[in-house]
Amino acid sequence: VMRVVILISGRGSNMQALLEAEYNGAVEFCCVLSNKADAAGLQVAAAHGVPTDVLDHRAFPDRASFDTALAERIDAHRPDVVVLAGFMRVLTADFVRHYEHRLINVHPALLPAFPGLDTHARALAAGVRLHGCTVHFVTPEVDAGPIIAQAAVPVLADDTPHSLAARVLRQEHRVFPMVLRWLAQG
Ligand code: GAR
Repeated sequence: VMRVVILISGRGSNMQALLEAEYNGAVEFCCVLSNKADAAGLQVAAAHGVPTDVLDHRAFPDRASFDTALAERIDAHRPDVVVLAGFMRVLTADFVRHYEHRLINVHPALLPAFPGLDTHARALAAGVRLHGCTVHFVTPEVDAGPIIAQAAVPVLADDTPHSLAARVLRQEHRVFPMVLRWLAQG
């Protein structure tokens, strides 16, 4: 069984999609860990019977000390795979290297287009006709790791960042569990 720890910062809809997908017993969700105590996803995880944990980054003097403590919390669960599901923190290179080949992220754009934040507004401003999401392995450079899967959606003439985000999010919820299933299958 592939042991998985999920990191979130907020709503947790991708986490929910992962928890509710079918893996034929090949995946065990060991913990959902948030850097924010009020992350709505924590309630959802608890309702699914998955242990939750909070590590508030504001309690640490710098990025390195937070990441060290975060890795300790994560490693207590001996995960095979660590999933970033709307975890809105840049991670240190040491942290990323510690989880090399077993740290994955979902990003709301067709990387390498639109790394970083506000991807939907930037896609609209750029006038792209296709937008989407990317699941990738995490490497020290933000949003630049090897791409595992992408899903594209059309950008419509009357789209707002909100409507476009919703269309992309539906695809995130489809491809992210698909990737986790592939990893579980080796
Ligand atoms: C998702 O759209 C995810 O792709 C994005 O945040 C949202 C989290 O929603 N992640 C990033 O922007 C990472 N930099 P969720 O909490 O409902 O899954």
